[in-house]
Amino acid sequence: MANKQNGFRILLLEAIHPGAKDLLAREGHTVQLESHSPKEAELVTMLQNFDVVGIRSKTQITEKVLQANPHLLAVGCFCIGTDQVKLDQAKRLGIPVFNAPYSNTRSVAELVLAEIVALSRQLGDRSMMAHRGEWMKSAVGSREVRGKTLGIVGYGHIGSQVSVLAESFGMRVVYFDVIKKLPLGNSQQLETLEDVLRVSDFVSLHVPDTAQTKQMITERELSQMKKGACLINASRGSVVVIPALAEALKSNHLAGAAVDVFPVEPSSNNEKFVSELQGLKNVILTPHIGGSTEEAQEAIGIEVAQSFLGFLKNGSTRGAVNFPNVDLPILHDNSQRMINVHQNVPGVLGEINSIVSKFGVNITAQGLSTDSNVGYLVMDMEGRAEEVSNLVAGLKT
Ligand code: NAI
Repeated sequence: MANKQNGFRILLLEAIHPGAKDLLAREGHTVQLESHSPKEAELVTMLQNFDVVGIRSKTQITEKVLQANPHLLAVGCFCIGTDQVKLDQAKRLGIPVFNAPYSNTRSVAELVLAEIVALSRQLGDRSMMAHRGEWMKSAVGSREVRGKTLGIVGYGHIGSQVSVLAESFGMRVVYFDVIKKLPLGNSQQLETLEDVLRVSDFVSLHVPDTAQTKQMITERELSQMKKGACLINASRGSVVVIPALAEALKSNHLAGAAVDVFPVEPSSNNEKFVSELQGLKNVILTPHIGGSTEEAQEAIGIEVAQSFLGFLKNGSTRGAVNFPNVDLPILHDNSQRMINVHQNVPGVLGEINSIVSKFGVNITAQGLSTDSNVGYLVMDMEGRAEEVSNLVAGLKT
């Protein structure tokens, strides 16, 4: 590792929120903030001068980039997805990859609440008509949400926030989750997905993208929903069969839908968006903006910067997506902390300990966490600086 006293050199790409730079700089690190997303060749060269890199979703940390920069200490994805990083290879090189899975939870929950009210009042259609110069003042089909039942599918970070906000609107909340979850407020966990679909006036999906949730909502599930109910999907595009949803809306079985995520989404703002839901009555379509707020961007910046600090200061890998997660106490003043990443094969720890005793260094604390491929060892040691640096050199050989 580079000398901690002088701080580390951190490159933040793709206009990461400046709050991240401020936080890292306050802790004595040298931070360079760039707004662009370098291509592979540029990145290979650029990273030679940095210890840590932060990216968003566009920059690709490929095998070639990692191979050319094995000195990197950590990679941070200032977003949720980590597909843009070769995670296995980073792990083999001992580079933990961090992300920010929960910084936009509240933003998604607020959008869902807005959509429940908007669907209840056919707000999207009324607004479009008014824009076109049509005056449609009518109460038919417009309802308050107070006293209505919201069914939440997936009672995790977002689902449970939606639950709290919906109750403050006076809604009754029921939910289905594959895990037994503590009900917040007066909400109630039901046994099956069907139980939730049958009683809800609004169904909001908040499940992850897994084999079990792929096409979870088909024609069958839609037919189990109450006539006149509305469906909201701000989870993942693979969860709902879109042609079946379009059919349920056209037949007036459902009164409306709000969809933020799609099976196929344009890769940039310049690409055309096509969906079978376009042009249908009381259907709100949004371009995957559930988590896209300025507050979420700032929170993401702080969340990943804090992961960097925890790792660079203490060796904590909490939240790393490709590494054994170790959350460590703050280092004692008289000690030095050494981090070692090794292949998880039998006998490594014994070998390391015998090297340590050879160099006359006293181990004050030791922790090891492993997964099927790598072992992550943290040792706090007391010894003269020379002994410790001899030991580090000895372990490298
Ligand atoms: P989370 O992991 O906190 O919660 C997911 C919940 O779903 C867990 O309680 C889990 O037990 C439950 N679950 C898993 N499989 C299930 C199944 N088959 N049936 C019922 N419940 C099941 O996730 P979080 O943070 O609440 O995110 C939820 C979804 O929202 C994810 O798909 C995420 O990608 C998406 N998301 C969308 C955003 C947007 O911009 N629209 C932004 C952020 C997240």
